[in-house]
Amino acid sequence: MAHYKLNVFHWHLTEDAGWRIEIDKYPLLTGIGAWRRGTQLARPAETFDRLPHGGYYTKEQIRDIVSYAGKRNITVIPEIDMPGHTLAVLAAYPELSCTGGPFKVLEHWGIQKDVMCAGNEQTYTFIEDVFDELLEMFPSEIIHIGGDEAPKDRWKECPKCQEKIRAEGLKDEHELQSYFVKRVGKLLQDKGRKMIGWDEIMEGGLAENAMVMSWRGEEGGIEAAKMHHEVVMTPTSYMYLDYYQGTPEAEPINIGGNLPLEKVYSYEPLSPRIPEENHRYVVGVQGNLWME
Ligand code: ACM
Ligand code: ZN
Repeated sequence: MAHYKLNVFHWHLTEDAGWRIEIDKYPLLTGIGAWRRGTQLARPAETFDRLPHGGYYTKEQIRDIVSYAGKRNITVIPEIDMPGHTLAVLAAYPELSCTGGPFKVLEHWGIQKDVMCAGNEQTYTFIEDVFDELLEMFPSEIIHIGGDEAPKDRWKECPKCQEKIRAEGLKDEHELQSYFVKRVGKLLQDKGRKMIGWDEIMEGGLAENAMVMSWRGEEGGIEAAKMHHEVVMTPTSYMYLDYYQGTPEAEPINIGGNLPLEKVYSYEPLSPRIPEENHRYVVGVQGNLWME
């Protein structure tokens, strides 16, 4: 990374299909959440192997990586994805869901309806506890809280979520997501850190001084920069390096798309739609490589 002058390693450590970081207070995150019974072999998900798969980074391994990166001027930003992409958490601690479960660590990719319950105070306690251990491992000022792809189906049906919407005077489930993200951002702020999230965190109102990672296109990034929020541009159409680069038949199974290297290099992060005086809010680009 240093050779290519990349100075930030954004480390997506949690997913529906596995929780990959040791947290002492919640041993089942790795005891249960780091293991699944099989893996998707084709796209769309029609065949699976039946090979148990899993593992996680110990705290010592994480510190080793952070230190190795630091010596090469690379900041490691950890991502704990929430409230969606959390089936591995919910498999381990189903009480953090809206329905109570049970859940399985996911064996395929995609967007899941089961997400963390935003109406349950236990959820916020869990997140703060995880942050306390996470921040000891990662000196980065910026911490990624995910925020992407969290359907509202369960929240609409959940008495706790509906009660939270009522008690907080929120309009709907989108404002509940905004409430959730703001509260999580405040937890980080109180600990001297700063939140970044995928562009969905803008829905229902963007939290004060949150940074935005624009991935579903440039729209979120353009809007955020106009609102004087710092932005990292990583639109799928240019920056998802896990897409096919050549003929799909010649490449291993992946998520799809088509993104040849020439197109990646052609990317101009300072969209003409961002006014000149807001250019400084675009702090960089990021190439995403979703994998295990
Ligand atoms: C994402 O690719 N779901 C951020
Ligand atoms: Zn709920």
